[in-house]
Formats: sequence, C-alpha cells, structure tokens
Amino acid sequence: LSEPRIKAPRGTFDVLGQDVGARRAIEERARLILESAGYERIETPCFEATELFSRTVGEATDIVRKEMYTLKDGSGRSLTLRPEGTAPVCRAYVEHGMHKRPQPVKMWYLSSFFRYERAQKGRFRQFWQVGAEALGSEDPALDAESILLLHRLLTDIGARDLRLRLSSLGSPAARAAYRQHLIEHLKGREGELSEDVRDRIELNPLRAFDSEHPRTVAVMKEAPLLLHHLDAEDLDHFEAVKALLDAAEVAYEIDHTLVRGLDYYTRTVFELTSDALGAQSGVGGGGRYDGLVEQLGGPPTPGIGWAAGIERILLIGSPLAAAPAALDLYVCIGEGNDDGTAFGGGPAGFGGAVRRRAFELLWQARTAGLVAEMELAGRSLSGQLKQANRRGARFAAIVGERGTALRDMQDGGEDELSSATVVHELLRRLRNLA
Ligand code: HAM
Repeated sequence: LSEPRIKAPRGTFDVLGQDVGARRAIEERARLILESAGYERIETPCFEATELFSRTVGEATDIVRKEMYTLKDGSGRSLTLRPEGTAPVCRAYVEHGMHKRPQPVKMWYLSSFFRYERAQKGRFRQFWQVGAEALGSEDPALDAESILLLHRLLTDIGARDLRLRLSSLGSPAARAAYRQHLIEHLKGREGELSEDVRDRIELNPLRAFDSEHPRTVAVMKEAPLLLHHLDAEDLDHFEAVKALLDAAEVAYEIDHTLVRGLDYYTRTVFELTSDALGAQSGVGGGGRYDGLVEQLGGPPTPGIGWAAGIERILLIGSPLAAAPAALDLYVCIGEGNDDGTAFGGGPAGFGGAVRRRAFELLWQARTAGLVAEMELAGRSLSGQLKQANRRGARFAAIVGERGTALRDMQDGGEDELSSATVVHELLRRLRNLA
C-alpha cells in the first residue's frame, strides 16, 4: 500500500506555465501605472501580531471572526497570516515615522494574503492582491486619483464588464448615529428578518443590506440610508470626489448599500465589479480610512487605498504575457562521443570530456549575454536538434571529439569550428542578423 499522495492544501494552487507570464504582465502594468503616480513599492511580513487585524479590520467582521489563520509561535505569541494589506502598511507607516516625510506617502504592493474561506471560482485561501495606499492627505483629489488608478489598471489589462460602485460612509460619529437609526428600524421589524440578520442586529446591522432572504430584502428597501445622514463636511467631500470622477469621464453608480467587509473605512468607499465573474463579482475595492493610523498609535493621519485580486483580474482580463525569450544557442552533444552511454564518461560517471567542453561553451555563451541552453536529457543527436527547434534556437552547436559544428537552425548550414572560436563567431553572426 502506498501512502496517499500529498496535494496542495484546499484553496491554494501552484502558479505554472502561462500563468507565470500573465501574472508578470499584471505586475509590470501595475508597476508602470502606480510608480508613474508616485507610489513606491513596499513589502511587509507575511504574518503580523494578531491584534493588528482584530483591532483594525474589526472584531465583528467575517474576516476576524472566521477567516484568519492564527497560530502561536514558540514563545506563545499569537500571530496571524495577513488577511489584507492596509493594516500592515499603516503599521509600517507608524513604525518608521513616515509622517515626518513629505505627505502624502504613497505605497503599493503585490503580495499573497490568507483567508480561511470556502474555496470556489475566484475565491481562494491563499490569494494575491495588488494594492495601493496613500497616507497623509484628505484631499478629494487623492480619492479620485486612487479610484482612477485602479480603474486604469483594470481597463488596461482588458477587464470586461466593469462597473464602479461608489458611496461615502462619512465620519465615525455620523456613522454611529446612523447605525442607531438602522438598529431601531431592524428591531421594529424583527419578526420579518432572517435568523442570521436577527442574531447580528447589534453586532453588525449594516450586514442586513447583504441579505438575500426575501423578507429581509423587503425590510431593507425601507431602511434609512447612510448617505442621507452624513455631516455637511463629509457630503462636500463626497460631492468633490464625484465631480472629479465626472471630469475624468469615468462612469460610476452610487450604491447606498455598499458595505465593505472591513471596519476601518470612513468617507469614500468604492468597489469595481465585473458581471463576468459571477457570484464573486468584486475585482477590487477600497476606500478612506482616516482613523486607522491614529488607532495604531500614530498621529492623526488620513489615508485612502484599494486592493484588487490577481486571480479575479486573470479571470476577466487578457493580460499580454511576454513570449519567453527565444534561444540564441542550443548546445548539443555530438553522436559517438565519449563511451556512447547517454551521459558519457563511463558507466559510473557523468564526466566525459565532450560534455565538459559543451558545458564550457554554454557558460561562455551566457557570460557573453546570450540566451543559451544545453542538452541535459540524453537525447540522440536528432532528438537534440528537434529540441533545439522546439525551443526556438537560432543556432545549435554540436560539440564533438575533434571540434564543434555551428548549425544555422534556419537554413541547416553547418560549419566546423575550433571550440575556442564558437562564441566569437556566434556573436558575429547574430550581430549581422540584427
Ligand atoms: P477586500 O475587498 O477584502 O479589501 O479585498 C480586495 C480584493 O481582494 C477583492 O476585491 C478580491 O478581488 C480579492 N480577494 C479578497 N478575498 C479573496 C479570496 N479569498 N480569494 C481571491 N481573491 C480575494 C481589502 O483587502 C482592503 N485591504 C482593500 C483596501 C486597501 N482598502 C483600503 N486600502
């Protein structure tokens, strides 16, 4: 009986083949767009103190209640695999005294995140996000810039059926007052609500807007709306953000029920969705978090940002993957060399003189800046030439006992050369071709 084969854990995946190129294309596009707008790359640790997330993302959120990968390390500290990137970036902002730098400080990341969610299309337990955070300014132009950068990234990558949803959550005080209104509304109609919503009226009343339970939906149609309870200043801010988006001619929908699954948001919130995704329609989202830095022990500092899921971008976009570099040279082992075994050098060894010379040639070619590979699978000479063709090699070098033949893979012409002159000759020919 053999042991069951070990597989990648549920909700995780390996990145292979074409996916590597497509992901690289997204990263390259993100780098171009974000760094042109003044965002600097930041890397933060894969795990953080658990309380960083429980305090900021919020004790009542799904993420903190059920989705965090939390472990105790050898000294009994509670650590959590990062479920999101905003709290870590704000932690780093405080830890490195970035408020002393010219503001705003703009940072971007592309990293993997971890949530214990039910795995399905577009939803994984380890997933990748590209994100951008800008701290130290409450100017509505920064909100508009942030939203437009996400929109630009997704449209550049060819995302289909995009919709931008926009709302404002106002200040914590306005939100608290509104929350009370909403709780009263829900309590007044408690009998009509789904059990799930009823159990969480006090804990998370906003979540009721997400319910698909028909009678709950009917109750929520008549619920008070947050946008109607904002302070004058927050309304002004929101109007300014909308005017800037209008000026940029990017369409959006005001979504009164836009509740993001994280507690730190204030004022502007937004989400880009694509109907092409089905149930998991959120491609990317974000908003302002004007109290987050202060909550983490820093000075009062406004901030805004977003994150978008790479796997979801891949589902709706068509990132142009760069073709793998074609080979300049494929180094072959000539037939009848060494002792005739696949690897040469006698039944016990790999060390035939011809193979050594072939390796030397491979390394000289790479040192000269060429894209080169060498035969490593013991193929016959015709098998090696086929492999050279498959890899798109422009030239093949067939290393033999007495010398090396340089073969033009396009016209099949071959010239005998002394080993020492092969790379020199190759460079000359490639230059002439260029
Ligand atoms: P979020 O909405 O939780 O926001 O996640 C952002 C994006 O990450 C989602 O729109 C989705 O594309 C992707 N995502 C989330 N969970 C999964 C999953 N289990 N599998 C695959 N993709 C997933 C945040 O994380 C905030 N930190 C965004 C932000 C940045 N707000 C301000 N700054």
